Amino acid sequence: MLKRLEDLQADTLAELEALTTMDELRTLRSRVLKGEITEILRSIGSLPPEERPAVGQLGNEVRQTLEAAFAEREEQIKAEELARELEEGAIDVTLPGRPVQTGRLHPATRTLREVINIWREMGFQVYLSRDVEDDDTNFTLLNIPQHHPARDMWDTFYTTRDGVILRTHTSPGQIHAMREYAPEPIRVILPGMVYRYEQVDATHEMQFNQVEGLVVGRNIRMSDLKGTMIAFAHRMYGPERRVRFRCSHFPFTEPSVEIDIEGDNGWLEIAGAGMVHPVVLKNGGYDPREYSGFAFGMGPERVTLLKHSIEDIRYFWQNDLRFLEQF
Ligand code: PHE
Repeated sequence: MLKRLEDLQADTLAELEALTTMDELRTLRSRVLKGEITEILRSIGSLPPEERPAVGQLGNEVRQTLEAAFAEREEQIKAEELARELEEGAIDVTLPGRPVQTGRLHPATRTLREVINIWREMGFQVYLSRDVEDDDTNFTLLNIPQHHPARDMWDTFYTTRDGVILRTHTSPGQIHAMREYAPEPIRVILPGMVYRYEQVDATHEMQFNQVEGLVVGRNIRMSDLKGTMIAFAHRMYGPERRVRFRCSHFPFTEPSVEIDIEGDNGWLEIAGAGMVHPVVLKNGGYDPREYSGFAFGMGPERVTLLKHSIEDIRYFWQNDLRFLEQF
C-alpha cells in the first residue's frame, strides 16, 4: 500500500510535468486527488491495524505534496497560455487594413438632387408639400371635379379615412404654396414622392418622385415657360440639346404642353407643363385678372432610367445591392 502511494506520487508528478494545457491539468487533478488517493485512504480500514497509521500518514503527505505541485504547475501553465495567446494574437501593424464598405446615394436620389440643384441655381426655392393629401386638394381645387373623366389619368390610393388619399402627383402642392404666399409672387419647386394604384410592370411603378414647379406673378407669359424649360434642359442635358413643346391637356393648366428632349433614339418626354388655369389661381388666392403663372411637373426617375439604360423600373425600389452597387 505504501508502495502504491509512492508510485502514485511519482507518476503524477511526472505526468504533471509533461502536460501543457489547463484542460489536461484539470483532468489529471480530478483523477488523482478526487479519485485515486481518496480510494486508497478509504481502503485503510481493511488493513491490519498496525499498518494503518503509516499508510494514513503517507497518504496525507502525498495528497499535500500533490496539491502543492498542482497549484504551482497551474500558475506556470496559465502564464504559458497567456504568453502564447499574446504571441498569436499580436497585431501586425504593417498589414494593409481591411477595406471598409462605403455606402452611396441611390441613383434616384442623385438625379433628384441634380435636378433640384439646377432649379435652385435658377432662383427657385424648394417647397415641401405633404404626401398624404385630401381629395379636394389633389383633384377638385386643381379643376378636376368629382366624377370628371380626367381623374382616370391618376389611379388613386385611397385610405380608410373618407377623402384622405396619397397624392397622385405633386400638383396639389401648388395650392398649398399659393395659399401660403398669396398675394406675393412665387417661384418654387416642389419635389417629392407620388403614389399611383398601378399594375406594376417594367415601365410602371406605384411610387416615384416628381419635381413640380410653380411660378406666379404679374405678366408671367407662355414665353417665360418656354424660356425657363429650355434653360433647364440645357443645364441638365447640355446646351446642344434640342427641346420640343407639344400641345397637350391638363385640367389645371391652359394652354398645356408636354416637353420633349431629343435623345439618341428620338424624342423623350421629360415634363408636362402649362399656364396655371384661372380657376386654380383663384383657388390659391390670386386674382386671375391681375396674376398669371406657369407650372410644370417632371419625373426624375424616367430621366435616370434613360441615362443609364436601365430596362426595368422595378429595380429602383427593390434595394438589391447588385443593382445599387453599379452606381
Ligand atoms: N401633375 C401632372 C402629372 O402628374 C404634371 C403637370 C404638372 C402638368 C404641372 C402640368 C403642370 O402628370
